[in-house]
Amino acid sequence: MEKSGAADITHNVRFTFNGRKLHGKPGQTVAAALFLNGIKKLGVSRKLKQPRGMYCGSGRCCSCFVTVDGIDHVLSCMTLLENGMVVQSNDCDPDIRRRDDGN
Ligand code: FES
Repeated sequence: MEKSGAADITHNVRFTFNGRKLHGKPGQTVAAALFLNGIKKLGVSRKLKQPRGMYCGSGRCCSCFVTVDGIDHVLSCMTLLENGMVVQSNDCDPDIRRRDDGN
């Protein structure tokens, strides 16, 4: 059997991101699982609508906010992935984006 880096990874945690069915590994953070699935844009900034994603990876910059199971402003880099999680980017959750100024 031929070995290649990504092909050796066992994916057995199922979750969705913006309705898309994805897989991750046990013990991964939500941000890492999204990154593994090729998703780097986790939302947009409130004022300038610029793309946001994982930056510090340590819970300090707040650039990786997502909504997880209906709870908004979850730091995806600090949250462990769980089977069945429903993750939404911070720009597609209507509860967060109901006003232009984000308040
Ligand atoms: S990437 Fe900085 S807080 Fe998550």
